[in-house]
Amino acid sequence: MPPRIEVLDDASALADAAAREVVRAGRSALAERGEFRLVLAGGRTPEATYRRLSGEEIRGEPFWARTAVFWGDERCVPPDDPQSNYGRAAASILSRLSRPPAAVHRIRGERGAEPAAAEYDALLRESSGDPPRFDLVLLGMGADGHTASLFPGGSPADFPPDALAIPALAPAPPRERVTMTPRALGGGREILFLVQGRAKAEAVATVLGPGRHASAPVLPAGSIEARDGAVTWLLDREAASRLA
Ligand code: 6PG
Repeated sequence: MPPRIEVLDDASALADAAAREVVRAGRSALAERGEFRLVLAGGRTPEATYRRLSGEEIRGEPFWARTAVFWGDERCVPPDDPQSNYGRAAASILSRLSRPPAAVHRIRGERGAEPAAAEYDALLRESSGDPPRFDLVLLGMGADGHTASLFPGGSPADFPPDALAIPALAPAPPRERVTMTPRALGGGREILFLVQGRAKAEAVATVLGPGRHASAPVLPAGSIEARDGAVTWLLDREAASRLA
């Protein structure tokens, strides 16, 4: 199924649209399955969305009390480090909800990439099955086409095909990371990419553009497919500026 692409006027409209998607997914997951299994993205782009989700109108949504929170990746820093994906989400959303989520599955990156990845791989198998099943996976994308901590042409170069979480090495600090694999991220009934800014336009055109050449190496963000669900890209005009 081809990805759905929605172009929003600017970063604020993108955050509004993303928050609406999370609320819709949370309400339907609660109604259909009695729980909401949500994978949060790292980086800065989702922070405006997280602030909307912890705002007056949304922080009291009943699905939050039945939400299990995961992360697509983490930096190997302490949870209170300003670069921690967990720390940023805890500050911008988790600590502001009217009721705490049912479960918060933090990647304990401070333990070091190898042990933390092994621990998270086991946690995913035990909590979410193999392959894991999530209701909504939020992802960002770097200007080089990376997503989570899956980087083009770099680390992790190879990993066991059934791995769910692996250590990774980022080209920029903090270099040591833990990341879900495409197999794990593909467990999302819905996968939602949030991408903004002109710096991402080239990678967006490579991943989504009609000019994609089969011979061109697939960028990591382009390798994420929902096993049996839908992938949606929410782009602001700048990020979409190279799309035909
Ligand atoms: C991280 C993210 C990473 C991020 C992209 C985009 O840990 O940094 O998982 O994949 O989504 O680098 O980051 P920005 O949203 O900050 O541009």
